Amino acid sequence: MNELNRKILIVDDDPAMQKVLHIILEKAGFDTQIVNNGQEALEILPSGNKSTPVVPDCILLDIRMPGIPGVEVLSLIHQHYPLIPVIMLTALIELETAVDTMRRGAFDYLLKPVRRIHLVETVRKAIRFRDTMLENERLTRENREYQRSLENKVAERTKELQEAYRKLKETNLTTVQVLAETIEAKDPYTRGHCNRVRILSLELACRLGLSQQERVSLEYAALLHDIGKIGISEVLLNKEGFLTEAEKTIFNQHPLIGENIVRTVDFFNPCLATIRNHHEWYNGEGFPDGLSGQSITLPARIVSIADAFDAMTSTRPYRKAIPLGDALEEMAAGKGQQFDPDLVDIFLREKVYQKIRNFREN
Ligand SMILES: [Fe+2]
Repeated sequence: MNELNRKILIVDDDPAMQKVLHIILEKAGFDTQIVNNGQEALEILPSGNKSTPVVPDCILLDIRMPGIPGVEVLSLIHQHYPLIPVIMLTALIELETAVDTMRRGAFDYLLKPVRRIHLVETVRKAIRFRDTMLENERLTRENREYQRSLENKVAERTKELQEAYRKLKETNLTTVQVLAETIEAKDPYTRGHCNRVRILSLELACRLGLSQQERVSLEYAALLHDIGKIGISEVLLNKEGFLTEAEKTIFNQHPLIGENIVRTVDFFNPCLATIRNHHEWYNGEGFPDGLSGQSITLPARIVSIADAFDAMTSTRPYRKAIPLGDALEEMAAGKGQQFDPDLVDIFLREKVYQKIRNFREN
């Protein structure tokens, strides 16, 4: 340890003692400063009245002094400067008090008369202790700052990622909307259909408490549910009157065609089952797989309801839009047949259909 420039504050009212301590410590290489009592000591420390405060590396403090007792001075120093070690100076008769000061935060105590080797050794130990404490404090502070800068960086990156994700999502949604409009361009009667199916599906999903992620997948699936119509001829899509059995077979391929188109993009994987199964019936009489009940995924059952309701309330090549009241009756009649009964109940009871206002008034 380098003793140079290490400041030791001596607090003692006895001039002889002051002198002894000063000589021993200066010889050992320490700088000393002497004050006569606790009041003076407190005044030269940074929060005291002096304009040039002293921050000692160690304080030697007499227990018995005029004015504020040494024990009280110790408490005040320890409270405001916990990292400055205080060594108490005591006579043999005050030994009990000296031991008590250790409990109150003194670093150690020295019995008077002070022996040179013992004094220097105790002061060195005290300063090593202070150095270690200061180093610990510095490391803790640095660690805290590092932690804070890391947290800031993480927050910054998270924000950037969220923004990038938001833009990506926006771009994806726009792309999908354009794709959906491409289908509608082939079949002018279905203009706006995909978007309305999206709105109704999302509204129903909200009532069912689906997670944000599930709702995002549902949104894409609803927009893309009829993407397979790209593979069906316009003549067939726009045919007036009912389809023949052969034409129905071709038309019924559109969920499979749609699934195959979308399968090539990983991002749309969560939408595949909905696209494939949006024409399944709850009683198993739908297509293409003849699935029934809960084996049809929830998003597919949701889109099925939204799709059917919007189809009923829109004008088609083979029939005009049916009035709202009739459509609602047909939805109710489809409970457990075409539709999941619980979902239809929510759709009707909570008037989910009001979310779109393009249907004809009764
Ligand atoms: Fe469809």
